[in-house]
Amino acid sequence: MPASPAGQLRSIAIGVTDLDAAERFYTGTWNLATQARTADAVYLRGAGSFHHVLALHRSERPDVRNVTFSVAGRADLDAIAARTPAAGGRVLSGPQALDEPGGGDAVVIADPQGRILRFVHGDARLEARAHGDAPVRITHVVFNCADVGVAQRFFEDALGFRLSDRTRAMAFMRCNSDHHSIALADSDADTLNHIAFVMPDLDAVMRGAGRMNDAGWPIEWGVGRHGPGNNVFSYFVGPDDFVIEYTADVMQVDDGYRVGSPSDWGWPSGRFDQWGISKPPSERIKQAQKTIRFVQA
Ligand SMILES: [Fe+2]
Repeated sequence: MPASPAGQLRSIAIGVTDLDAAERFYTGTWNLATQARTADAVYLRGAGSFHHVLALHRSERPDVRNVTFSVAGRADLDAIAARTPAAGGRVLSGPQALDEPGGGDAVVIADPQGRILRFVHGDARLEARAHGDAPVRITHVVFNCADVGVAQRFFEDALGFRLSDRTRAMAFMRCNSDHHSIALADSDADTLNHIAFVMPDLDAVMRGAGRMNDAGWPIEWGVGRHGPGNNVFSYFVGPDDFVIEYTADVMQVDDGYRVGSPSDWGWPSGRFDQWGISKPPSERIKQAQKTIRFVQA
């Protein structure tokens, strides 16, 4: 598969209204670990080698600050900077050194709908830690889009993403062998749909759902197995109403993957996952997916 310059999804930075409570939740229940902190931010790692996968920033309101990818080579930063303007985006800075824990050189861009995307090379790596119940990394972020077509074209033209599947509700986009790293959901506004953390296996998803339940965070959708991507899922509404997912078994694809269309991905009435055990998403999760905005560049 021709490599996308985007490389791998690394991290997401979010604004939270109670930094201490959010850190307690994401370390104590969600099972990330604090790797670094500044006066107004906490950087949390997973079990994989990325310096951090989630950055929590002290904020008056919940928001999304940026989504960050780790690129394979320094030249990919230049390629992204060169391709962004013609595709309808803006280069905000770089390539230049990134002044935050983990470091590296970054090019920071805004997509046509104003979301801030960062591409980093040479950032710090950690030794992976063996942990059967911790998220390894973020495996996808889903954006609600008022105009999916605009976002899809940008991810294809500027960033070399390819469409894996189009359902009635979503465009699933890949930049490496993961079936999707970004998905774009048809909506009436540009908000955060959810953030997915990949667990070591299905059992870790189930144990994580139990841990969340014990801590007073009920399953809002799932447990089930998705159609596109074939991954298992369990969704929750976390602090500040961020929608977060434990997932596992994400399908790996190559150039031979046949792009699915809405007619390939219909469920029989009353069914919401492959197994046929998941109830529909709760009203609470559907509401939460409409609330969190992206800081506009
Ligand atoms: Fe997901």
